[in-house]
Amino acid sequence: MIMIIMGLASLFIVHVSGENSLSFDHQKLSTDGHYHDQMQNMKAFKHSLLTRRQLVTPTISSSPAPAPQAMNQPPASRPHVYEVTSYGADPTGKLDSTEALLKAITDAFNGPSEGFLMKGIANLGGAYINLQGGNYRISKPLRLPAAGVGNLMISGGTLTASDDFPTDGYLIDLSASSSSSSSSYNYEYITIKDLMLDCRYRGGGISVINSLRTSIDNCYIAHFNTEGILVQDGHETYIRNSFLGQHITAGGDPGERNFSGTAINLMGNDNAVTDVVIFSAAIGVMISGQANTLSGVHCYNKATGFGGTGIYLKLPSLTQTRILNCYLDYSGIVAEDPVQLTISSSFFLGDAYILFKSVKGLAKGINIVDNMFSGSNKGIEIVQLDQSKGPFKQIDQVVVDRNNVNGMNLKATVAKGSVQGNGTSWTIDFSPVLLFPNLIDHVQYSVSSSGTLFPSHALRNVSENRVVIESDVAVPASVFVTVNQGVSS
Ligand SMILES: *[C@@H]1O[C@H](CO)[C@@H](O)[C@H](O)[C@H]1NC(C)=O
Ligand SMILES: *[C@@H]1O[C@H](CO)[C@@H](O)[C@H](O)[C@H]1NC(C)=O
Ligand SMILES: *[C@@H]1O[C@H](CO)[C@@H](O)[C@H](O)[C@H]1NC(C)=O
Repeated sequence: MIMIIMGLASLFIVHVSGENSLSFDHQKLSTDGHYHDQMQNMKAFKHSLLTRRQLVTPTISSSPAPAPQAMNQPPASRPHVYEVTSYGADPTGKLDSTEALLKAITDAFNGPSEGFLMKGIANLGGAYINLQGGNYRISKPLRLPAAGVGNLMISGGTLTASDDFPTDGYLIDLSASSSSSSSSYNYEYITIKDLMLDCRYRGGGISVINSLRTSIDNCYIAHFNTEGILVQDGHETYIRNSFLGQHITAGGDPGERNFSGTAINLMGNDNAVTDVVIFSAAIGVMISGQANTLSGVHCYNKATGFGGTGIYLKLPSLTQTRILNCYLDYSGIVAEDPVQLTISSSFFLGDAYILFKSVKGLAKGINIVDNMFSGSNKGIEIVQLDQSKGPFKQIDQVVVDRNNVNGMNLKATVAKGSVQGNGTSWTIDFSPVLLFPNLIDHVQYSVSSSGTLFPSHALRNVSENRVVIESDVAVPASVFVTVNQGVSS
């Protein structure tokens, strides 16, 4: 250990005086016999050292070799890695580790920082709370002591709620316990990574309150009673490559009817959920903030037939949501008064469908295009309206088109049809396919007649989504019609 530290000290000094000489350190370390390990340690160590300017003091070369946890070093020269077992946390999950983990978190919070990210957010320089591959039982939410820090990561293990964990708590709670911060946000650039969170049906997994640029990556969150992840206010929480389920199951679970809770609840703006699987919960993703985007999200959380919803957009009249390349697997999408919504390149399996729920009757700026729907020939429509609270009255720029369907009923806002007849009247009924009742904004038609007469003809009636073309004289003719609804007038 002493050898390493001395080597690092030398390295460091060489570095500040110019470009470092790796061969110099190679020599020093190779005398030790564990050259490879030493190099690995050194690289990690060097990285943490070089990120901190306050280390540019000659005192480091004469400071004593630290214990593994470096607790007896002056704070400024400790590495930014807080290994929780050195605070007494029990990696076997048998003993309660709450206080030990909170102490590690508090140390990280109070650790050296340099400058600020957003105003009032002290830059912890990449401080890392390392769970060291252990499973830790906790009886209280893990919370930072106060708001106002950033550039911090917690990673690498499992957190398990104990029997007395508060049912309204979250295992990791990024909220401000005191509002002393001078920042308008609580935290910035907090990374929660490579963690399993087992809520044991006590409360939720992670809450991110009024924070900026939070990253939740490769987490497995199970057994939540309330929410797997709650994001409230703030913006840019990015949830990636993660798995969430209230029950650990892989579909077809006999208890599916009883699944409850919400896997991801986005009550803020500008967040992204990318490549995430939600395998059990009453609601997969609930969104009530603006400008969020979901991509690569696979919801098989609770079948619509059992009362589940894959994605619920509860932001009537200001939806601003993009759902791209998602997989709605027996559970569908609900959108209240959607205004600005794109659902595209997604796959709906098992009669999953999209439901527009009228609140004040708005449906504007909607594109549901290029999706695939697959069902079991029960006549389920791919897009449906819930007008129980009143009809959709303001419908504009709505395009439901170019979706393909197998075993379900196609619904669209654009339709084509043709009819052949011999007489003076041709009628095409588009109501089986058009989404909105009694709404045709645009009609185009052509009459093809092979007889000797050239009749005068006109569009006579478009009510109830039926198009009637009439001619002045009887002729054998085919009539081709294209209709649009929800088109800006
Ligand atoms: C679902 O919950 C009800 C009421 O709590 C219970 O009676 C039933 O046994 C549960 N079903 C399953 C399959 O767990
Ligand atoms: C169309 O109807 C008229 C009068 O009913 C009839 O004379 C004529 O043969 C019909 N033409 C065709 C192509 O069926
Ligand atoms: C148009 O058709 C509807 C029935 O589809 C009918 O009630 C209405 O009277 C018709 N309008 C005209 C002008 O013929």
